[in-house]
Amino acid sequence: MFVWSKLSTEKWADAWEERFIVGGEQRAVITRIPKRTMIRVEVYCQKRKEAETIKKQFGGSVRELKSQNWAALSAELPPPVKVRDCLLICAERDKKKLAELALENPGRHIISIPADMAFGTGHHATTATVLRMLVDFAEQHEGQPWTMLDLGTGSGLLAIAAEKLGAQEIWGCDFDALAIKVAKENLKRNKTKLAVLEEADVLKWKPKQRWDCIAANIFADVLEAIIPKIVRSLKKDGVVFLSGILNTQADACLQAGEKAGLVFDTILKKGKWVTAKGRLGTKAS
Ligand SMILES: C[S@@+](CC[C@H](N)C(=O)[O-])C[C@H]1O[C@@H](n2cnc3c(N)ncnc32)[C@H](O)[C@@H]1O
Repeated sequence: MFVWSKLSTEKWADAWEERFIVGGEQRAVITRIPKRTMIRVEVYCQKRKEAETIKKQFGGSVRELKSQNWAALSAELPPPVKVRDCLLICAERDKKKLAELALENPGRHIISIPADMAFGTGHHATTATVLRMLVDFAEQHEGQPWTMLDLGTGSGLLAIAAEKLGAQEIWGCDFDALAIKVAKENLKRNKTKLAVLEEADVLKWKPKQRWDCIAANIFADVLEAIIPKIVRSLKKDGVVFLSGILNTQADACLQAGEKAGLVFDTILKKGKWVTAKGRLGTKAS
């Protein structure tokens, strides 16, 4: 048995957890380091090769454990995520295997997002819920042109999904340069030509236009700070998906939205996370 481990800052804990969900099981063991804002992320592997592959991708170190009594853990890719009957998101890079997946899943757009250092593989509750809302939005707007703003794009998955679902203009941003690098690679990988993704901090971003659909899966404190800008960026009949909100933060965050003029018609809880769908109320529109 071998263990790969790496120290990271606490704010990445959810992203690390998401990276290592395999077959619905959480493989990352995350230990908080007392009195520091650091965590230790560990993944236990049967073969050195698997641990070394993780190290090659994410850095960190590998050590051997002598005990033989470990449950068998596989080195498989995480299972694909299916959204309604429209999307299939997988970690596969191999073009031949992607073509096979397309044949096996007629009618679904196949999106390839290999595990990398950007949040958004579709496995996390916050992303999965926004994806379902996005698919429903696209279905309701079939045959009509629509545009999409993706705040905190991470891997670029929501922007890619929006383009596959028919959006005609997409702009997204993330303040993490590495996320934008990964997202741009994902745009290319998925032959997404319309979406424009840039490195920008939403706290400093100045809205320039209004959008039909806004996705902001970006943590409650940031959402609260940018809600007035989101309201100013929403078209009269536009829809916003606010996500990344912990249960404990939901009341304050959604109240801030209502105060700024949003009306929420759907509030979904998944585990410890809340996602809300809103539009402009009469006060704001
Ligand atoms: C929870 S992830 C969501 C990623 C992806 N949109 C998804 O739904 O899976 C939040 C993303 O927001 C980014 N982010 C956090 N604060 C930000 C800020 N102030 N400005 C821009 N991006 C930010 C993070 O770097 C991260 O990539």
